[in-house]
Amino acid sequence: MPFVIEWRDGFKIGIDQVDQEHRHLFTLVRALNLASVDHTVDELLDYVVTHFSNEQAMMEKSGYPAFEQHLKLHEEFAAQVAEFLGSDQGWTEDRVQEMRKFLNKWLIGHIMTHDLRFGKWLTSRPVPSAPLVQQVAPKSGGFFARLFGRK
Ligand SMILES: [Fe+2]
Repeated sequence: MPFVIEWRDGFKIGIDQVDQEHRHLFTLVRALNLASVDHTVDELLDYVVTHFSNEQAMMEKSGYPAFEQHLKLHEEFAAQVAEFLGSDQGWTEDRVQEMRKFLNKWLIGHIMTHDLRFGKWLTSRPVPSAPLVQQVAPKSGGFFARLFGRK
């Protein structure tokens, strides 16, 4: 029985781009499966890097006071994933489910606490003159890639 938590509107933090990216993360976690594990894990981690980069750019540009603290949480997550992936066990159905469970739980805890805090802060401040939303392409071989143990 696969472990699945579906995205729900209650996970929204009130920033459209971030909410859409979070929703897509849930879709990718759901898509993890043993038959195409290498591909689905890679796709998920690539998107995590993209999402973290976008979210962090938004926080930095807006002058979010808890930016550094939030960055640390993303780094800790990357380290936990790297540890999980680096354990050198082969993939099994149980291990795929374990990863799914870990990702779903982390995402929900993180979104509903820390991302929500950012959403509330951003939406309650005066309208900024410059656009905040900007897509940032992650650099390959960058910090997160290194933490995830990939080239
Ligand atoms: Fe975050």
